Amino acid sequence: MDVHEGRDQGSGLKVCIVGASGKLGRYMIQHALDRGHEVVGVCREQSVGKLAEFDGRITVVPGATDDREVIRRAVEGCDGVLTVLVPWGMRGYSTGTAQAVLDHARPGARLVFSCGWHITRDGQDVYSLKLRAFVKVFRWVARLARIADIDDQVEACRRVFASDTRWTVVRGSDLEEGESQGLPVWSRHVGDPVLKSNSTRRVDFALFMVAALTDDELIHEAPAIVGRQTPSARSAHPATATPARSAHPATVTSAPEESS
Ligand SMILES: NC(=O)c1ccc[n+]([C@@H]2O[C@H](COP(=O)([O-])OP(=O)(O)OC[C@H]3O[C@@H](n4cnc5c(N)ncnc54)[C@H](OP(=O)(O)O)[C@@H]3O)[C@@H](O)[C@H]2O)c1
Repeated sequence: MDVHEGRDQGSGLKVCIVGASGKLGRYMIQHALDRGHEVVGVCREQSVGKLAEFDGRITVVPGATDDREVIRRAVEGCDGVLTVLVPWGMRGYSTGTAQAVLDHARPGARLVFSCGWHITRDGQDVYSLKLRAFVKVFRWVARLARIADIDDQVEACRRVFASDTRWTVVRGSDLEEGESQGLPVWSRHVGDPVLKSNSTRRVDFALFMVAALTDDELIHEAPAIVGRQTPSARSAHPATATPARSAHPATVTSAPEESS
C-alpha cells in the first residue's frame, strides 16, 4: 500500500491564491491566514464581493485567472501559489491559468494545484467503473453544452507535471461540506484501498493544499487524497515513511477511460 500522511507546519509566507472566491479558495484563504501567511487572492471581477468577509486582511487582484498580466502582478514576490484548476468554457481556461502561474511565479516558489482523481500522472491509477462512466458522461455533456472541457484540465496538469518548478498537484476525491476532520491522508494512486471511501471534506482539501506549501515531501507528487476519518482511511494503517521517488518520474496524463 502506498499511503502517506501529510505534514503540517510553517507560517509567515506570502501566498497567492488563484481562484480565491470559490468554495475551495475561501477555505484556503482562511487556513492560510490562520497560519500567519500574507494572502493575495485572484478572482473574477464579478466575484470580488464573495471575498468581503476577508476585507482588510487580504489583497485582492481582480481579473480572469488565465490573464497573464493579472497573474504576473498577483504572484510577484510570493513564496507559494495555490491554484484552483477548473476547466470552464472551451478556450483553455485551466491550461492558460496553469501556464501563467508556471511562467510568472518566482523561481523556487512552491506551486500547488487542485484537480480531481480523474487526472493521472503516470497512468498507474485504477478507476472504478462508476468514476470512468461519470467522467465519460460529464466530458460529453459539458462539451456539448460548451460549459467545460475536462481535457483542458488534463492538459493543464500535463504542463505542470512536465515543468521543472517545485509543484504539487493535489487530486481531490468527491467532496462534501462539514467540519474539518483534520489533514486528509493520501496515496500516489487511485485504486489504493485507503482511498476507497472516495470522500473528503472540502475544508480539508483546502487544508491539504495549504499544508503542502511547507511539506517538501510533496514536491513533484500528485497525491490522491481522502478524508482521514473515512472508513477506508481508518481501516488502513497509514505508513509514515515515504517510498523512494521514482528516478524517472512519468509525465503521462490521461483521463480514466484512457488509462485503465
Ligand atoms: N466539486 C467536486 O466534487 C470536486 C471533486 C474533486 C476535485 N475537485 C476539484 O476541486 C477544485 C475546486 O472545485 P469546486 O467544485 O469545489 O469549485 P469551487 O471551489 O467553488 O471553485 C470554482 C472556481 O471556478 C470559478 N468559476 C466558476 N464559474 C466560472 C466561469 N464561468 N469562468 C471562470 N471561472 C469560473 C469560480 O470563480 P468565481 O468565484 O468567480 O465564480 C471558482 O474560482 C477544482 O480543482 C476541482 O477540480 C472538485
